[in-house]
Amino acid sequence: MEYVEIRNTGIKISRIGLGTWQFSEAWGVTNYEDAKKIVEKALEMGINFFDTAMVYGNGMSEEFLGRALRELSVKREEVFIATKIPGDFLTPEDVFRSVDKSLKRLGTEYIDLLQLHWPPCWHNHPTCPYMRALEKLVDLGKVRFLGVSNYPVKLLEEVRSCLSKTDIVSMQYRYNLIERQAEIELIPYAEKNNMIFLPWSPLSKGALTGKYSLDNLPEFQDVRHRDPIFHPENFKKIQPLIDALKQLSQKYNKSPAQISLNWMIMYSKNIVPIPGAKKPEHVVDNANSVGWRLSYEDWRLLDEISKGIRISYATWYLY
Ligand SMILES: NC(=O)c1ccc[n+]([C@@H]2O[C@H](COP(=O)([O-])OP(=O)(O)OC[C@H]3O[C@@H](n4cnc5c(N)ncnc54)[C@H](OP(=O)(O)O)[C@@H]3O)[C@@H](O)[C@H]2O)c1
Repeated sequence: MEYVEIRNTGIKISRIGLGTWQFSEAWGVTNYEDAKKIVEKALEMGINFFDTAMVYGNGMSEEFLGRALRELSVKREEVFIATKIPGDFLTPEDVFRSVDKSLKRLGTEYIDLLQLHWPPCWHNHPTCPYMRALEKLVDLGKVRFLGVSNYPVKLLEEVRSCLSKTDIVSMQYRYNLIERQAEIELIPYAEKNNMIFLPWSPLSKGALTGKYSLDNLPEFQDVRHRDPIFHPENFKKIQPLIDALKQLSQKYNKSPAQISLNWMIMYSKNIVPIPGAKKPEHVVDNANSVGWRLSYEDWRLLDEISKGIRISYATWYLY
């Protein structure tokens, strides 16, 4: 495993994290023992960065993750737990209430990274009051670091301007070889400000693993069924990329998922992908996407092919 440091703190997190939204009804890992095996394998592979959220499985993901880490007798300081507070909970009172509940579910005294899951878009919560509440939690030792997710740069700047004693250390956004919008403003911002950039859906929800095809798309009950990536019109467009990943997969003796993740970590030293896993084998595969590099020529080949893909998000009316 490779490790990266969080902003001159001496704290090192694994270059590949584990996304745990999968511990929910949405993705189907609802049996605790299955989740525990995934966490155990991640630890075995040197992964110490775990991403969860209050909303995943309405708390199930936090609960499973915390319980597994405790039952596996992991020393608290050896893992880095990142969770997220939803935009809806961003009044100062709800910040405290929800973090208290989160700590209980995780069974821990403190959260390493508390991320703002998405901006408050329906309830008009003003920014500085909730940021001051979050800063107070840092002050009181209940949260070590703060991060954002899905915040546009301008709002992120506003968030930072509300903080007086601490700063944002990480940015989490949708980013993968098919959806590269983050390269325009967000990744450069993370690089310039020495923040960790955490791509979510780094495997494009499984599309980049090469196991799906036009004849084998996620079924109706699957959380991905209505995701634009898997809409047949879009899926057709990504086929050349999947073909290239499969060819490189043979050349390097690596899986298409590993090639995709390696491409991404080569894009920026600030990038720490957090692929989700539904079984221990996924964790092994994803953890082994580091420790080696694609050649520059092959990196460029994928760069060119993926730049030629333009998917549409206006798909829902086509159903
Ligand atoms: N901040 C946010 O708003 C936000 C949003 C979404 C996700 N996230 C975080 O990001 C994490 C990852 O995103 P994601 O779960 O949406 O998508 P992802 O990591 O791109 O895809 C995960 C899925 O791909 C398949 N897979 C994973 N590794 C594989 C491998 N090596 N070989 C074959 N198949 C593999 C598995 O599903 P199948 O086996 O069923 O194909 C797995 O559930 C989440 O767990 C969550 O922590 C954050």
